[in-house]
Amino acid sequence: MKHDVTMQTSEPGTENNRVVIFDTTLRDGEQSPGASMNLEEKVLIAGTLRDLGVDVIEAGFPIASPGDFEAVRAIARQIHGPQIAGLARCQQGDIDRAWEALREASNPRIHVFLATSAIHREFKLNMAKEEIVRRAVEGVAMAKAYCDNIEFSAEDAARTEPDFLAEVVERVIEAGATTVNIPDTVGYAMPEGFASLIQHLNRHVRGIEKAVISVHCHNDLGMAVANSLAAVHAGARQIECTINGIGERAGNCSLEEVVMALRTRRDYFGLATGIQTPKLFAASRLVSKVTGLQVQRNKAIVGRNAFAHEAGIHQHGMLKHQSTYEIMKPEDVGVKSNQLVLGKHSGRHAFRNWVEERGFRLSETRLEDAFTRFKKLADKKKEVFDADLEALILGNFHRQDHPWRIESVQISSGTNAIATATVALTHEPEDRRAEEAACGDGPVDALFKAIERAVGIRVRLTDYQIRGVTRGKDAQGEITASVSIQGQTYQGRAVGTDIMQASARAFLNAVNFHLTSEERVAAGEMEVVGAAK
Ligand code: KIV
Ligand code: ZN
Repeated sequence: MKHDVTMQTSEPGTENNRVVIFDTTLRDGEQSPGASMNLEEKVLIAGTLRDLGVDVIEAGFPIASPGDFEAVRAIARQIHGPQIAGLARCQQGDIDRAWEALREASNPRIHVFLATSAIHREFKLNMAKEEIVRRAVEGVAMAKAYCDNIEFSAEDAARTEPDFLAEVVERVIEAGATTVNIPDTVGYAMPEGFASLIQHLNRHVRGIEKAVISVHCHNDLGMAVANSLAAVHAGARQIECTINGIGERAGNCSLEEVVMALRTRRDYFGLATGIQTPKLFAASRLVSKVTGLQVQRNKAIVGRNAFAHEAGIHQHGMLKHQSTYEIMKPEDVGVKSNQLVLGKHSGRHAFRNWVEERGFRLSETRLEDAFTRFKKLADKKKEVFDADLEALILGNFHRQDHPWRIESVQISSGTNAIATATVALTHEPEDRRAEEAACGDGPVDALFKAIERAVGIRVRLTDYQIRGVTRGKDAQGEITASVSIQGQTYQGRAVGTDIMQASARAFLNAVNFHLTSEERVAAGEMEVVGAAK
């Protein structure tokens, strides 16, 4: 069955100065170690991306796991406006599965990929150039049988011989690809060279005007944004990127940086995107909270220090005129001061207003649950800030309370005393209880050892962070615990005013992520695919 996509003149990419923003936070971004998201979190992020104005949401790699498949299908069903893309190798099974997940989308796109560089041809695929061309063309043709909107990616394009790349691109366009993506898969390119590659394709590929040239840059040398900008300057019209630049290894091109560079230097690029930039900061916070990947303080655009002027000389200049030291205004990207928002006397109505104003879409049950927790928090804390409410709502998303739950935790430590912890956990599916105690080098060590004994798994703590959500001695603490179990990384998070209780929850959260993914592997639900980076 063929799904027709009507291209209108206002379709992104048809106007020459319009850059299509293709967001892959949910696919390439999710490949950041420990950043896996559950279905509800993915749908929440997809809704935020739609509100932000991205043109294409890459929702996942449907053949990779049932979880990916379900996420792509749910997003295809529920999120309307942007095109919804699903990734597939140039293989019938992958493409069938991608289409099955995408078919209910109002504007679906199948994204097929195959590596083209000599190094991948020889060592990964063991295929000659002719076979690469044949398979790429077949992949596009198979996808085209389902849908008109087809993207082809030449994996490791930046290290591919330019003439061979031009040949592949020409042939996939003939086969019906409507977008041709040129990834710098290993983050090896330099801006000038990458721009020349785009120019080379523009000059030498017959029929290039029938497709949008896209770029997908990784950040291994810190060049992802620079390379993407050089490419659009040279004629590319789609940028693939992620919120906060998350992604495997050093990540992908950062959406907020590339968009704000195009907007701030419109004089130089003469290009526009459809992004509503005042929604950037909220989107960044959401992705950071959901994935547990903290944004570095000095990160461009969305870092906490991005608009902070400490030096007296800067403050003086700013007071005279904002533009002396600021090329963008905080409000252009939605940065707000951390205001005192609600208090213990605030009612449901005010709470609902706050939630809606921040763009969170919560079901009635989640809203009620969040309101109850807000009331409890307001009883404990005199002042409830924006950041408290955000932590309270989002902290609840990344919870994995299955199969182990905490029944009780007791910790004792002190000067010249040995730290000890006792925990009681329940394993709900097996209806059993485990109680353990441990001594440790400090309370956190004792606590995590006791939990490790209770669950009976070897867990190595690789990272542990506590961050005060707001100022003040009664501030909530946000705990992130990264663990390694059988060589895999899992991340758990929890928020609370009692940081030791929250630490226990975060640690157990990570263990539960491991156990639930093991259950899925055992049930044959998770296939490990040699996924693209
Ligand atoms: O980095 C890469 O090459 C990819 C492709 C699948 C686009 O992620
Ligand atoms: Zn990639």
